[in-house]
Parts: sequence; C-alpha cells; structure tokens
Amino acid sequence: MKRNNILCIGAGYVGGPTMAMIAHKCPQYKVTVVDINHERIARWNSDDLPVYEPGLDEIIRATRGKNLFFETDIDKGIRESGIIFVGVNTPTKTFGAGAGKAADLQYWEKTARQIREASESPKIVVEKCTIPVRTALAMERILTSKDGDIRFDVLSNPEFLAEGTAIHDLEFPDRVLIGSRETPNGLEARKAIVDIYLNWVPREKIIESNIWSSELSKLVANAFLAQRISSINAISALCEKTEADIAEVSRAIGLDSRLGVKFLNASVGFGGSCFKKDILNLAYICRTYGLEDVANYWESVVDINEYQKERFILGILDAMFNTLAGKGICLFGFAFKADTGDTRETPAHTIARRLCEEKAELVITDPKAIDNAKIDLQDVDGITYEPDPYKAARGCDAIAVMTEWKVYTELDYQRIYDSMAKPAFIFDGRNILDHKRLHEMGFNVYPIGKPPLVHFT
Ligand code: UDX
Ligand code: ADP
Repeated sequence: MKRNNILCIGAGYVGGPTMAMIAHKCPQYKVTVVDINHERIARWNSDDLPVYEPGLDEIIRATRGKNLFFETDIDKGIRESGIIFVGVNTPTKTFGAGAGKAADLQYWEKTARQIREASESPKIVVEKCTIPVRTALAMERILTSKDGDIRFDVLSNPEFLAEGTAIHDLEFPDRVLIGSRETPNGLEARKAIVDIYLNWVPREKIIESNIWSSELSKLVANAFLAQRISSINAISALCEKTEADIAEVSRAIGLDSRLGVKFLNASVGFGGSCFKKDILNLAYICRTYGLEDVANYWESVVDINEYQKERFILGILDAMFNTLAGKGICLFGFAFKADTGDTRETPAHTIARRLCEEKAELVITDPKAIDNAKIDLQDVDGITYEPDPYKAARGCDAIAVMTEWKVYTELDYQRIYDSMAKPAFIFDGRNILDHKRLHEMGFNVYPIGKPPLVHFT
C-alpha cells in the first residue's frame, strides 16, 4: 500500500493549508492536492494563492515542488496514493428535502464514486470535510458497492482550524481527533493516520474515538462555539436596555474558570462557512431522529444571530433619524472575521443588503475581502469599493465597523472625522474602537451592548 503517498481531494480553505502543513512537517510523505476547479489549482501553483492565511505563503514556498504538489488529474492521484483525505465542500442544501438545512452531499458522493472507480489498490479514505454523522457508513457502502476485493477503510479526522489562524491551529492544535471502525482493519488504518500527526503533534493531543463520535464532535464543537456568541449577543441586547456594559459582563463571567475568557466578544453576529451550516445540519439530524425539542434548541442559536444583525440595522436607522436614504455609510470590513479574505456568511453581507434596501449610499472597504464582496454583491448597483479606509469614509455620514481588522484600531480618526459629513456617526459592530476618544472628537458613537456616546440631548 502506498502509505507514504497522500492525496487530498478538494483544494479549498481546509484542504490547501492542512496538506501544506502535513508536507511541511513530514518530508518523508509525498502530498498531492487535486481539485475539479483547475483555476484554483493554477492559483495554488502561483504566487497568488487562492486562500489568504498569515504564514501560509512561507510554508507553500518551502514545500511546493518538493513534497507538495497541486494537480488536476484526480484519477492519477487516487491510483498513486494509499491515503486519501476528502476535503470537498458540503454546503447547505438549497433544493428538495432538507433545503436550507441539510448538508448537500452531492460533491462528497461524486468523490466517493470517483475513488471507487479509479482505485487499483487498498485505500484509507479520511473524511476531512464537515459531514452529517453516519456519512462514513454511506461512504463505505459506495466504496464497496463494486465487485472486486479492494479494501477501503473510511476514517473521520475533522478539521478544527479557524480561518485567519489556520497555520497556528494546524501547527499547535488543541487536539487532533481520529475516528475509525473498531475492527482490526479500522484500528490499523487509524494508526496510519495517527503516525502522520505524530510527526509534530504530542501523543496526548491525538484523540482516538469511534467514527460516529468523531463525525458528531465536529458539528457539536461548532455548535457550542456559536452558542457562546449567540448567548453573549443576546445579553448585549439586554445591556443596551439596562446600561450594563457587555465588555464588563464578559470579563466578569469569563474569569470563572468553568466558563473561560475566550469567545465572549459581543458582535454584529457570527459568520463563516461553518457555524450556521453545522448548526442547521445538527438540527436537521436531530429532527430526522424525532428529537424536535433538541433541534429547536440549537436552531435558536442561529435565530439569535439573525436577530443581532437586524438589531444592528434598526439601531443605525433609529440613531440616524429613521432615514438612511441618500446617506453615505461606509462599512469598515467585509470579511466574516479579521485576517481572512473569506466572506462566506459574513454579517457584513446581510448588513450591506439591508442598508441598500434603505437606499443608503454604500462604500465598502476591507484589506483582503473586496474581491469577494464584489462577487457577493454583484447584483446590487451603486456600491463603491475602496481599499483605502480614509478615502472610503470621506464625505460619508456614518462608519459601521463590520470586521475586527487591527488596522481599523490604528487609523487617525481625527482626520477621518474632519473629512466626514456632520453629524458623523460610528457604529462599532465589533467593539474594537476607543469609544470615549471618538466621542471627544465629535463622533456619535454606538457600540454593541454599551450605552451610546452621543452629542444630542
Ligand atoms: C470555526 C471554528 O472556530 C473552527 O474550529 C472550525 O474548524 C470552523 O469554524 P471560523 O469560522 O474560521 O472557525 O472562525 P471563528 O474564529 O470560529 O469565528 C466565527 C465567527 O464568530 C466570526 O464571524 C467571528 O468574528 C465571530 N466571533 C468569534 C464573535 O462574534 N465573537 C467571538 O467572541 C468570537
Ligand atoms: P472548505 O472550506 O471545506 O475547504 P472550499 O469550498 O473552500 O471548502 O473547498 C472545497 C473544494 O472542493 C473546492 O475547491 C471545490 O472545487 C472542490 N471540489 C468539490 N467537488 C469536488 C470533486 N468532486 N472533486 C474534486 N474537488 C472537488
């Protein structure tokens, strides 16, 4: 078995950086990444990588052409590899049964069939993408549905990296989870995957489990993380009514070691490709097993996220005298979080569309996400895109901070204030700015979950 040849099918946000890290840490393995999207592969082979991640360029430069290869011939890759990671996309289904909730498994199933057709020797197939629990069973059924005696072992090794910190998360993971069947073959295959990670991850951080626990843990981890944000965002609404300050509440509760300080920043809402999709998926699975109340419980996490975005819009409207028509509003940031150009499910997208409905004149600035913003909003006319935040805010009535880019905390806000229409407003959807100073300059400042600082009586 060609166990030193690793293939990854799907050269996306997960497949690209993960395979780059494996190649970097394991020079004895040859790692090949393939994708149906040839343009994407061409970009992985260029200096203009399709994914922006701090530190990724260096690792790619050090490994590409040595033991890391980006290619388009998927069948050849399958034939030549003993270990196949599957990192294709599993978006939310947009049609038919489970539309808007279940995972769309068409790309994943095509991949399973392709592995089956092209394989000439035994394979370990590793699910990397987030998929509904018990998908491994379906994968096993497809792989073994052809005459022949090729052995396929299906494993689950979910990826927990967060965008923007992918390289750090891959290099120093909190844990690596590897699930397999608990048969002799399954355990042997599990060991082959453990051996890859042992090249740089301490043994005690590599957790082994049965395959169903592994699949489910990925969905549950994301659901719990998202739940924390919806919980703090729900409380931010209460803070705004009571003059409590959400940052003070977060600090006070986070210092309880049972709760922990991370992931308690109130915001305009969570985004990203995983949280909403995985929760809806979890809820859908619960429903298919008749667990209606459990499904409703998790869905409410997504409901609060929608509520938080709408609350933000209504807050802008209320502050700006209930009309935004013809007013210049500048979005500081469009990415769903800092240090990424990714805009999937970004709250800025919803906010931008709502502001356009209110007939505001929108200007969007972002250090990395303008290209994606243009694609997301291609059907909306009249939006200006401007990489320079000073130029973007010039002449506008309001700034709305959508993404917690560090650069937005370092700007000369006096210069920005002087260039804006008056009265000038700042809506800080990430609570990253120095609100008191901005107020002293003359801005009317509206944070999340804190009393506004305004100049009107
Ligand atoms: C997430 C999980 O963290 C990761 O483990 C999983 O593999 C994929 O999904 P990601 O979507 O890349 O990663 O970003 P994450 O850092 O989790 O942030 C998600 C969203 O929550 C962002 O929009 C972020 O701005 C928001 N967020 C995060 C908050 O609003 N407040 C917080 O305190 C933390
Ligand atoms: P993720 O965030 O999970 O990595 P992405 O959408 O960034 O998701 O990446 C998934 C990649 O998988 C895309 O580049 C897509 O072209 C690729 N892909 C989808 N279906 C197939 C397939 N059948 N064979 C090869 N690649 C595929």
